[in-house]
Amino acid sequence: MKLKSKISNWNVSKFIFNREYKFSRKDILKYLPKSYMENAYSSITKWNNYSKTPLISLNKLSGELNIGNIFYKDESKRFNLKSFKALGGAYAVDIISKGMKNITISSATAGNHGRSVAWGAKRLGLNCKIFISQNVSKAREKTIEEFGAKIFRVKGNYENSLKECMKKSKLNKWKIVQDVSTRNYKFVPKLTMAGYSIMIKETSLQTNKYITHIFLQAGVGGMAAGAVAGVARYFKRIPKIIIVEPENAACVLKSIEKGKMTKIKISKESIMGGMSCNKMSLIPWQILKNTANCCLTISDKKVPDTITMLAKKSFSDKKIVGGECSAPGVISLISACNNKKIRYKLNLGKKSNVLLIGCEGDVDKELYKILYKKGSKKFNNGK
Ligand SMILES: Cc1ncc(COP(=O)(O)O)c(C=O)c1O
Repeated sequence: MKLKSKISNWNVSKFIFNREYKFSRKDILKYLPKSYMENAYSSITKWNNYSKTPLISLNKLSGELNIGNIFYKDESKRFNLKSFKALGGAYAVDIISKGMKNITISSATAGNHGRSVAWGAKRLGLNCKIFISQNVSKAREKTIEEFGAKIFRVKGNYENSLKECMKKSKLNKWKIVQDVSTRNYKFVPKLTMAGYSIMIKETSLQTNKYITHIFLQAGVGGMAAGAVAGVARYFKRIPKIIIVEPENAACVLKSIEKGKMTKIKISKESIMGGMSCNKMSLIPWQILKNTANCCLTISDKKVPDTITMLAKKSFSDKKIVGGECSAPGVISLISACNNKKIRYKLNLGKKSNVLLIGCEGDVDKELYKILYKKGSKKFNNGK
């Protein structure tokens, strides 16, 4: 069965343009200064086993969609963490521990951030305590434990786990490493975003094509804002920036639509777990409010298909292991191209060089297997 018929009914749930769009390198670098990004790059590139993650051409997909180039930044190869998150939490641990060995690091997490913190602590021989809510899967818990962290299961949601983490950390003088910034908590989240900007620096070294469009997945917006800051620092030309969220957890879209940071209610958690967030982080809001050209949302429906098609080389010559949060970039691009109006408005065509972020690999192995199987059934049935 042809690729075309497999993807012809993929669509965007919601799409909005940002009326406040005004890209200013100066403003962005006020929130995340160049020095943060340059220090992150010079530190992380010296870590053991550092190498750039592959920038893979989705040549079969670009042929089908009639797009110049589609590049997929494959973060499944990021150290042994299989996620871009390795660049954030672990780097923040590196900086805030300042070489001290007798400290304990703590964090509350929905999964990947905690793994990065635990891995960062292990790298430096530090104790680590990770707080997770009842929503975090056993498989995710195991992958954090593998790095020697002690796990605390907390009743309720992520916010409950954060409260408990703050309480215990204050009591025990543990150093908290969170990736979400608030009015009074900015430095550590800035470090994590500076780490994420490395994906853009590497991309600038891996292709001499000017990137014209970037699709950026968002949960609280840290990854997207870190990438935008990377664009401001490392790219000569400014691409169109498209923020991608699950339809049930579109806190960035809602905030941009309303022109102010807006909390949403999540009625059903998305399968794209890391992106299922109800409120933006402050610094990402300050960066994204004027730099996102547009926001779009997608449903969970095509996540299994995408995971399977990445693995079965439907989009490229290379097999790609992409987890549930890697799929949305691919789904959004296909869906945007299927909608004539959106395609035209975004000016997607033969001259476009699109960058997609393959955020993670099979971090949650069990979920990956389930989704891959589900996608394979449809694939084999030709649906
Ligand atoms: C695995 C994973 N976790 C979390 C996120 C969300 O990151 P952030 O909360 O920084 O927007 C993403 C991507 O958007 C992701 O791929």
